[in-house]
Amino acid sequence: MRRKLVAGNWKMNGSAESIRGLLQGIRDGAAGVSAVELAVFSPFVYLAQVQQQLHGSAVAWGAQTLSEHASGAYTGEVAGPMLKDFGCAYAIVGHSERRTLYGESDQAVANKFAAARKVGIKPILCVGETLEEREKGITESVVERQLKAVLDLEGIGAFGEAVIAYEPVWAIGTGKTATSAQAQDVHAFIRAKLAALDAKVAGQTRILYGGSMKAANAGELLAMADIDGGLIGGASLEAKEFLAIAKAGC
Ligand code: PGA
Repeated sequence: MRRKLVAGNWKMNGSAESIRGLLQGIRDGAAGVSAVELAVFSPFVYLAQVQQQLHGSAVAWGAQTLSEHASGAYTGEVAGPMLKDFGCAYAIVGHSERRTLYGESDQAVANKFAAARKVGIKPILCVGETLEEREKGITESVVERQLKAVLDLEGIGAFGEAVIAYEPVWAIGTGKTATSAQAQDVHAFIRAKLAALDAKVAGQTRILYGGSMKAANAGELLAMADIDGGLIGGASLEAKEFLAIAKAGC
């Protein structure tokens, strides 16, 4: 049985003050949604605050990306061992905003996935097609290509613990959610790709949906057989809404 994971990707939002309230609200409400695992992904500079406020709670936390490298002359980057110092359990890798705005290649994403695992941080690998790719009918081949780069480097064994997030780029921050059937189709495709390599691992891997998920549509999405949680952007910035999404998965 896969325990659902509801993960809040705060992106580049928040202040010390707003985050204090958000974390307090999530911490206070977590007991009411204990059937679901909760995690939050703050900007790097707030990780110390996140650790301080969530320490000892059931809520996990992580980073929105990390360097491929463990240390060295990489100005502006943050390495896996540093994230470990601040108690990160997870790191998002290959979010579409990183791929498109910062030119992260499939190979770079795979390297980041490996860098996280090396220090015992579970990667959340984001995959997903653009609107143009969906309209061309190449959704599956795009997702397969993104997945393959990681499988080639790290192997299927890496996916027992690692998480995948299917995030159609056209649904991110647009208010346009994939229908539960559209999402389920791609999730089932991803799981079948993993199952072709190792059925047991495929059965264990959590595949989250992301893209304009909110309390109003979470119940339907989370009821699908292969949707094991959500990666939530905008709707994770309010404790009440974030907890209501988690509640829909209980
Ligand atoms: P959204 O973002 O929920 O604001 O669409 C999701 C994501 O980018 O992870």
